[in-house]
Amino acid sequence: MSVDSTTRIGIVTVSDRASQGLYEDRGGPAIRDYLAEILTSSWEPVTRIIPDDQAGIEQTLIELSDVEKCSLIVTTGGTGPAARDVTPEATEAVSQKLMPGFGELMRKVSLEKVPTAILSRQTAGIRGGSLIVNLPGQPKAIRECLSAVFPAIPYCIDLLDGPFLTTDESKMVVFRPKKS
Ligand code: MTE
Repeated sequence: MSVDSTTRIGIVTVSDRASQGLYEDRGGPAIRDYLAEILTSSWEPVTRIIPDDQAGIEQTLIELSDVEKCSLIVTTGGTGPAARDVTPEATEAVSQKLMPGFGELMRKVSLEKVPTAILSRQTAGIRGGSLIVNLPGQPKAIRECLSAVFPAIPYCIDLLDGPFLTTDESKMVVFRPKKS
């Protein structure tokens, strides 16, 4: 575990319209703002805005993990049932381990907000030293979903031998099981 290093965090907006400039990307900035609000350890975003194309999403996730060395990669968009929604498939294809608990918890908390929460197939997985987490495309879903799963993310990154993430505890209390 490295204490001093800057954590690189991939922020991937998956949207045909945003990637063509037809639509302002609000999801990526919402992820960045939320992380800036809660994280106190040094970090830097690595951002991408890409279309809903499975091969392209896989290539971006591989690059952010293997080349950019992001410890955490958060995607937004492409998790629903429409034909072009393939972010979970791309995530599963590039992951060595699936982390289904992330999707389960995010759907549970989202269901308290909107009945359509069950339409999101959002998931998570591990590729090398990266945890990849899918969020829905709705900008308001970002805080709802990330705040639910974030308490377990620093410990997950510890288990991947990644950097030690710290947060402003007035905004986000993370959980690390005490060592026996
Ligand atoms: N989760 C939260 N927290 N808030 C939301 O508004 N929208 C839902 C769902 N999950 C939503 C949510 C809707 S309407 C859809 S279609 C799915 O996420 C998939 O969205 P995506 O295809 O943009 O990823």
